[in-house]
Amino acid sequence: MSTNTVTTPPAEAGLSRRGFFMKLGILFNGFAAIVVALPVARFLFSSITGGRGNGYLSWVRLGDVSNFPEGETRMATFQNPLVMPTDGKTVDTACWVRRIAGDQFQVFAINCAHLGCPVRWFPQSGLFMCPCHGGAYYRDGSRASGPPERGLFEYQYRIENGVLTIDAGQLPTPGDPVARLTSEKPQCA
Ligand code: FES
Repeated sequence: MSTNTVTTPPAEAGLSRRGFFMKLGILFNGFAAIVVALPVARFLFSSITGGRGNGYLSWVRLGDVSNFPEGETRMATFQNPLVMPTDGKTVDTACWVRRIAGDQFQVFAINCAHLGCPVRWFPQSGLFMCPCHGGAYYRDGSRASGPPERGLFEYQYRIENGVLTIDAGQLPTPGDPVARLTSEKPQCA
């Protein structure tokens, strides 16, 4: 008479396997939670820790003051200081520089204050024109006509050793229009 013996694994072995996978699951979930929580925490505390990076407070050079003749408005380009490795050519940003006289400048964001299309300067008419919906601005950036509800946004500027620099990190937005305007806003030439 043959006897078939079925060997069952000891209860302890089953428990330890279950325990092992449970610990692995906890470890994996903990790792996933950290991965998700870190960027959220960084965003939440960015205003305290300065998480926007140094680029937010960057002054960038637009070029020698002599590149901008008095009484004229010219386009200038600079690299957005808030650059990410994946940004590519989009870091190249344009703006309009109006030299009124001497060290008196106005530097306008190129984007229309309506929906952000790039505006163009037409010296013949003395107007900035927006190709998208016909918005127009006077030479001092104030609104002339069309859908924009306000004038062009301005960058703060300063002259450093004969070089025009702008506070390019703090991009002007509808939510931050006042900070864009210097208290000594120059008069229209
Ligand atoms: Fe310029 Fe609409 S985006 S008028």
